[in-house]
Amino acid sequence: MTEPTKITALDNGPFLVSGSFVIRDGTGQAYRCDRSQIALCRCGRSSGNPFCDGTHAKVGFSATERAVPQA
Ligand code: FES
Repeated sequence: MTEPTKITALDNGPFLVSGSFVIRDGTGQAYRCDRSQIALCRCGRSSGNPFCDGTHAKVGFSATERAVPQA
């Protein structure tokens, strides 16, 4: 059975993606990715976009949004 895709916005860091997924660029070309968990940059400063390279920590990226609880 395939694991559902899970995306977690890490505090002051990337989006952590796990489960079953394919990452494509704007032309539809798939990025080569043979891992079941990746980190996608959301600070915009990674030199390896779309993947996080840890630069967010060096540039002081700040993001601690919280999901609105569902009623
Ligand atoms: S979130 Fe890690 S380098 Fe951008």
